[in-house]
Amino acid sequence: MNNLNLSCKLEILKEISKKYSLFGDVLEFGTCTCQSAIQLATMFPDKTIFTIDHFQGLGKSSKPLPSSSDWREGSFALGAWNAKGSEFPRTIDEALQKLSSKPNIKPIISDIHKLTHPSDYGIGKISICNVDVDIYEPTVSSLEFLLKCEWSEVFIRFDDWHGGNSEYDHHERQAFNEWINKHNLQFELTHNGTYGGAYIKR
Ligand SMILES: C[S@@+](CC[C@H](N)C(=O)[O-])C[C@H]1O[C@@H](n2cnc3c(N)ncnc32)[C@H](O)[C@@H]1O
Repeated sequence: MNNLNLSCKLEILKEISKKYSLFGDVLEFGTCTCQSAIQLATMFPDKTIFTIDHFQGLGKSSKPLPSSSDWREGSFALGAWNAKGSEFPRTIDEALQKLSSKPNIKPIISDIHKLTHPSDYGIGKISICNVDVDIYEPTVSSLEFLLKCEWSEVFIRFDDWHGGNSEYDHHERQAFNEWINKHNLQFELTHNGTYGGAYIKR
């Protein structure tokens, strides 16, 4: 598969799952409106979708924030300046209510930096991971948590990859490159557009 200039849209994960014959559940970092979790749950009715968020929005980043983004400390928190549309839940209960429309979604309300072992949340084998926590620091913690999960191969989709856009060099792409090098993982970058995609083996 060579889609290097293409974006890894959420809906193509089904085709990717078939292409690589991936078996295992789906792990998502960044629930927010719940829309991506619901889309994943619809796409993969036979998989459990574990979706993780504390609903407190973005923390402070040590990296420069892209001027073209709406990333600031507190962005996407419940009721935040950029989370006012009807698609945004106003409370955690509202989010849980929304997610309950799909029985195969298991929400985990937690700070990603404070997650413990995957088995503490009932997480077993993972085949697909959707990373949508925007900035560098929670992406680092998301990938470290993913590493603790059971998998020998996994496909990771990055919602804020922005391949070729230097404003975003220090966020998902930096976290991913550091993770690959630190853990000596084999990978194939399949999508290098706005949304990134990579197939990882260990
Ligand atoms: C862009 S939104 C996710 C969008 C979501 N995929 C959707 O479909 O609406 C980013 C989310 O990451 C969450 N987030 C960022 N840092 C986090 C952290 N340290 N722990 C938990 N959640 C975090 C924010 O609370 C926010 O809801």
